[in-house]
Amino acid sequence: MDTTQRDPGAAGRNSGTGPGSLPSSTDSLPSGTGSLPSSTDSLSSSTDGLPGLTEDVLADDPMTQFARWMADARARSLPEPTAMVLATVSGDGLPRARTVLLKAHDPEGFTFYTNRTSRKGKDLAANQRACVVFPWFAMGRQVTAEGGVRILSQADSEPYYRSRPRQSQLGAWASRQSQVIGSRAELDDRVAELERRWPPPAVIPMPDFWGGYVLVPETVEFWQAGTFRLHDRLRYRRHGGGWVVERISP
Ligand SMILES: Cc1cc2nc3c(=O)[nH]c(=O)nc-3n(C[C@H](O)[C@H](O)[C@H](O)COP(=O)(O)O)c2cc1C
Repeated sequence: MDTTQRDPGAAGRNSGTGPGSLPSSTDSLPSGTGSLPSSTDSLSSSTDGLPGLTEDVLADDPMTQFARWMADARARSLPEPTAMVLATVSGDGLPRARTVLLKAHDPEGFTFYTNRTSRKGKDLAANQRACVVFPWFAMGRQVTAEGGVRILSQADSEPYYRSRPRQSQLGAWASRQSQVIGSRAELDDRVAELERRWPPPAVIPMPDFWGGYVLVPETVEFWQAGTFRLHDRLRYRRHGGGWVVERISP
């Protein structure tokens, strides 16, 4: 059967002229309302002073390499260098993403803290797979890690909770994170009530609905901007008991 008869748009899509055709690249979009200039070409200038991303300079394991890049991000005083976009998937398969702060990184993985009854907490209870992205635009770098998520025990979460300011500890109690609330006043009233419940110097216990998670990576990709879109992408992938590094096309 001649499929082009059943799909009159096909010829146009192939030639790029008929209905349903799309411009071949976002660079060619008209400069009307809603279009934005492409900026990744200029990212390469933000890598000035940084070594190139080549196989020979990589650490043997991705968490050591991540520690080096995090140190570079801190040294450059990037805004919120520890902020990472955390993507999770709900029990019924819906993807969602939000920013959280990385609070620790070690050979096992990336640790963050949150409310366990929040949307992300529910997603992670249903589906222990996640992805994090560190978008270090100002230095032309990005790190992406994918893997499984381990729930940190309450005992292992406690030291970080204790290190937080008293008001933040109360905030963890006050916020029924991700639930609809009637007003800002409702939240402030709850904080005031909690302050009466635990007046200083009373120790504020750690909520049992709050704690840490460790993303244990199966892949970690290091991306560094190059000129004219010829970026460098090197990805560690677990293999046997160690890691292999693969170069990915930009
Ligand atoms: C820079 C930044 C850092 C944040 N850090 C955290 C964090 O460490 N933990 C957290 O639970 N929410 C953090 N948030 C708030 C989350 O982005 C999000 O609004 C909240 O966790 C609820 O997400 P959810 O409804 O998808 O569960 C941060 C937001 C920003 C913008």
